[in-house]
Amino acid sequence: MIPTLSTPDSSLAFVADGYGYISRTCDRLGSDAFRTRILGMPVTMMRGGDAARVFYEGGRFNRHLSMPPSVSHLLQDLGSVQTLEDDSHRHRKAGFLELLFDGGDARLGELFEEELGAAVERWRGGPPVVLHDELGPLLARAVFRWAGIPTLAPAEFRARAGELSAMVERAGSFGPLNWLARARRHRTERWAAGLVVAIRDGRVVPRAGSPLDAIARWTGDDGLPLSEDVAAVELLNLLRPTVAVVRFVEFAALALASRPAARSRLAAGDEEALAGFANEVRRRTPFFPVIAGRVRRPFRWSDHDFAPGDWVMLDIYGTNHDARLWAQPQRFRPERYATEDARHIVAQGSGDYLDDHRCPGEPATNQLIAAALRVLARTPWRLEPGQDLGVTYSRMPAKVRSGLRIRFAG
Ligand code: HEM
Repeated sequence: MIPTLSTPDSSLAFVADGYGYISRTCDRLGSDAFRTRILGMPVTMMRGGDAARVFYEGGRFNRHLSMPPSVSHLLQDLGSVQTLEDDSHRHRKAGFLELLFDGGDARLGELFEEELGAAVERWRGGPPVVLHDELGPLLARAVFRWAGIPTLAPAEFRARAGELSAMVERAGSFGPLNWLARARRHRTERWAAGLVVAIRDGRVVPRAGSPLDAIARWTGDDGLPLSEDVAAVELLNLLRPTVAVVRFVEFAALALASRPAARSRLAAGDEEALAGFANEVRRRTPFFPVIAGRVRRPFRWSDHDFAPGDWVMLDIYGTNHDARLWAQPQRFRPERYATEDARHIVAQGSGDYLDDHRCPGEPATNQLIAAALRVLARTPWRLEPGQDLGVTYSRMPAKVRSGLRIRFAG
């Protein structure tokens, strides 16, 4: 049986404590799921390894109308891989996996290491920098180079990079800041669609074999070319989430600052140490608190019958901190992966890369974090005194308040 809360609506409690709400309520009820209302609509909230498996595997859920438009218009859009299911999903997803696996992930990491390494050289001996503000353009430049985007004039690059950052920063906000970010998203979509059209017309010739070249030629499972709008949305599906890795890099730097002993192994490029640290950053960082879906076909779980259209939220943060999956889950312990399984991290979804909605950018994300760790571990720097290193959990995605003010030694 899945218990139902007696309070009429949980919206305010959820917004006030998005990262802790589901787990705390589950703990109180002694259940891995409960039913309540969000914005007046019935929803089942669930957490834990078994819930993640049910949510991601077996095609039980889709993403149709599962997020408020304020969120989905910034993070996903009509016709994207996330809105597809079954064969058409598998077909499109295979395209992403070709780009992001088998070397594509490592290449993206290398380019970011180059960009960050060069930036650090510029910062050395200079005034402190706010890492949060600097990382977005560096990640954007790395992914633009990786994707094969033709070189942009500096002002246009700044505009595009700013738009990509704003999409993630504002996804959890409502009102004017969110509307502004959505308006900017339309600008980015027009730019990306224009690029696709220019390639198809032969006005722009992308680097052969580049992700941009591939996406401009992608076809649907009907064999027809993707519409320019859908191709643009998928191009943004590579660019936007790469820029979002800012959050993980920021939390990686924060973790590194208090673990000087880890530095030498990371600086030396110890692959096991880098992978463990990167995975632990992804597990611990408060990024997406939940992922939401709608039931596609009836199934039974926890003695409850789920019906088509039912709205369900999986607690991502709570599952990443579930003591049944992780020993001392609140402790940052990169060495835990010698005995614990990194595949249980659900920060980027769960299930199978091809068949399910698991993030195809997961290996690339690890490479990007590892690249940042290599640079930050081998360069002397310190956090500026007097800054607020507290994390605002009431904001989604959560943020280090100061943005991390760092001084790089000369
Ligand atoms: C900041 C790091 C990232 C986070 C937190 C993240 C998170 C996620 C999550 C939770 C999902 C599953 C969504 C769902 O179940 O509906 C997802 C899917 C996806 N991610 Fe990521 N991601 C990140 C980085 C990346 C990168 C670097 C790329 C590409 C370069 C990427 C591309 C995608 C795509 C295309 C999907 C849709 C997959 C599908 O529907 O089958 N992500 N991501």
